[in-house]
Amino acid sequence: MTSTTTIPANPNKALWEKGDFTRIAETMRESGEALIQRLGITKGLKILDLGCGDGTTAIPAAKLGANVLGVDIARNLVDAGNKRARENGLANCTFQEGDATNLHQSPDKAFDLVVTIFGAMFAPKPFDVAREMVRVTRTGGRVVMGNWIPNDPTLVAQILKISSAYTPPPPEGFVSPMTWGIESNVLERFAGAGVPAEKISFARDAFTFNFPGVPSAFVNEFRKYYGPTMNAFDAAEKNGRAADLQKELEDLFERQNKSPGNDATSISATFLRVTVTV
Ligand SMILES: C[S@@+](CC[C@H](N)C(=O)[O-])C[C@H]1O[C@@H](n2cnc3c(N)ncnc32)[C@H](O)[C@@H]1O
Repeated sequence: MTSTTTIPANPNKALWEKGDFTRIAETMRESGEALIQRLGITKGLKILDLGCGDGTTAIPAAKLGANVLGVDIARNLVDAGNKRARENGLANCTFQEGDATNLHQSPDKAFDLVVTIFGAMFAPKPFDVAREMVRVTRTGGRVVMGNWIPNDPTLVAQILKISSAYTPPPPEGFVSPMTWGIESNVLERFAGAGVPAEKISFARDAFTFNFPGVPSAFVNEFRKYYGPTMNAFDAAEKNGRAADLQKELEDLFERQNKSPGNDATSISATFLRVTVTV
């Protein structure tokens, strides 16, 4: 008798490979670059960009001369990142598949800076994630996280809040990614990794999404390409509520749009910037 071993699907990976996050990332490039400009990056700095997507922050960091490794759980985004690095002639920027909960490919103290902008927050097992980020950072190095904030009135927290009302409750034991936007949770997780509170600082920061189309067209991008919103629409369609979800999101995007033109969308979203000195 032969037996076959099936590896269970990883829902975290499936969520991010489901759509095409590059479509949303295209609207985040200016803010990604601006954030990197503020991090004091120098030539030769060794950077891990964790949950890097297709390189919104990894590529500008490499353009400043840092040696950047982008790690992401989604194969399609890793491929897209490597393509962008090649197109930009950046031999100092490589993307590889990996999981923030277990960075087994990276030795201890390998990086001067671990940056994770709306990346590691989406991995399960937050205590493992904090421990791994600290482990791969050299003594005196930094971890910089960008985390969306639960119940914040700005765009992303509101998209996730609206969407959650249309999706079934998560499985027992599920820890919401948004808890990374709560300072006490962040302190607790890094304390678990051996980092005392005085080595952690917090700041409010913002990212602006710039889309070359009207707000409803931008909602459609999320509906077609952003894994969490795709799942919300899948669930809403089963209950005949997809039109309600579309309307709620369109109202939100219209309300928040600050673009002076009629045919563009520009929406700012607040996040918690966490800086940890290791
Ligand atoms: C909202 S996107 C942000 C991407 C990128 N940092 C940016 O700002 O454009 C979240 C990213 O985290 C990645 N991700 C989610 N869970 C992960 C995990 N366990 N390990 C590594 N990456 C993960 C997703 O594949 C996705 O690329």
